Amino acid sequence: MDFTLTEEHKMIRDAARDFAQVELLPGVIERDENQRFPEEQIKKLGELGFLGMMVDPKYGGAGMDTISYVLAMEEISKVDASCSVAMSVNNSLVCWGLETFGTEKQKEKYLKPLASGEIIGAFCLSEPEAGSDATSQRTTAIDKGDHYLINGTKNWITNGNSASIYLVIAQTDIEKGHKGINAFILEKNMDGFVVGPKENKLGIRGSDTHSIMFTDVKVPKENRIGEDGFGFKFAMKTLSGGRIGIASQALGIASGAYELSLQYSKQRKAFGKEINQHQAIAFKLADMATEIEAARLLCLKAAWEKDNGLSYDLSGAMAKVFASEVAMKTTVEAVQIHGGYGFVKEYHVERLMRDAKITQIYEGTSEIQKIIISRSILK
Ligand code: CAA
Repeated sequence: MDFTLTEEHKMIRDAARDFAQVELLPGVIERDENQRFPEEQIKKLGELGFLGMMVDPKYGGAGMDTISYVLAMEEISKVDASCSVAMSVNNSLVCWGLETFGTEKQKEKYLKPLASGEIIGAFCLSEPEAGSDATSQRTTAIDKGDHYLINGTKNWITNGNSASIYLVIAQTDIEKGHKGINAFILEKNMDGFVVGPKENKLGIRGSDTHSIMFTDVKVPKENRIGEDGFGFKFAMKTLSGGRIGIASQALGIASGAYELSLQYSKQRKAFGKEINQHQAIAFKLADMATEIEAARLLCLKAAWEKDNGLSYDLSGAMAKVFASEVAMKTTVEAVQIHGGYGFVKEYHVERLMRDAKITQIYEGTSEIQKIIISRSILK
């Protein structure tokens, strides 16, 4: 077993680290405060190939592996989790979903601009009454021959206003349960497509979260993804990979908070010595470092399984539940290590603590991950 990263992996990680320091760090506090989407930064990320990292270059992607994606997600998330969630949704939900299950025509028309970062996409599964219970879709897609008519509301949509392309999951035949669900590609400028107001959130405040309403949106049949009734499985398969992205985001939030704490502990003195010379702080740092390393290994293992054509439903769920718990715990401890300074915005750790919470909620709560894990080990 070889744990060393290749030279290419190190290069990608370093490029993401530089980008985060140079492009994201300077405005991150202001964007969080004003809930401002990192539009210019996302554009630059796209130019560097970070928005279609795993997509085949023939569709405008960077042709990298999932390990590279985990490394880049960690680095971007250390500094700006609002930016990394946009990156994660575009890469592992929208681009992966289209590349894996889309038709050649769909890939030419939609995947190419999405993978090259010309535009970004959103993934619309959650509804006011269907979050964890994803089979209970109320949004309907009625088959009208050459097109479907879509009606309903989606909630908590990441990239809700900034996206141009939306993958929408909807119920075509309620009698068939999850086998009556379909997935569609919608364009923002379609008639009847309305973006609701931006959510005012606890964390990832720079990310663009909206409700989306559909009233008689006419979607051509060629925009359905996969065979009739494939929509639920499409969502589940896509989310399995998405969880590796969010696990890596959680990992990045944790390691960002840890690095800031380590640095602060070397500068701050109390009772005549650096605070890291007090065991109370040294042990906190030791716990953080150990748990972060374990989370990183889980993320990399899930990525390795995906890259090697193995099943990653279980490892992705394990990585997500563990890394998000580590993110929450680490960021709370980071604020504690910083004392009063941790409670003010300039030191970044309070933002990381607020950002950490969402990693236990979106792309399946921790409880959903435990359902997936327990079903897998008990079957
Ligand atoms: N791959 C392929 N097929 C899968 C699958 C997977 N990973 N998971 C389930 N399926 C299939 C099952 O095999 C089954 O098919 P058959 O009937 O043919 O055997 C079918 O799907 C139904 O599966 P279940 O009976 O297991 O379904 P369930 O109702 O018990 O739900 C669940 C399972 C895991 C709880 C699922 O509902 C789930 O993952 N919920 C959470 C949804 C979620 O993550 N929402 C987040 C929204 S997206 C988001 O947050 C993005 C963002 O903006 C950041």
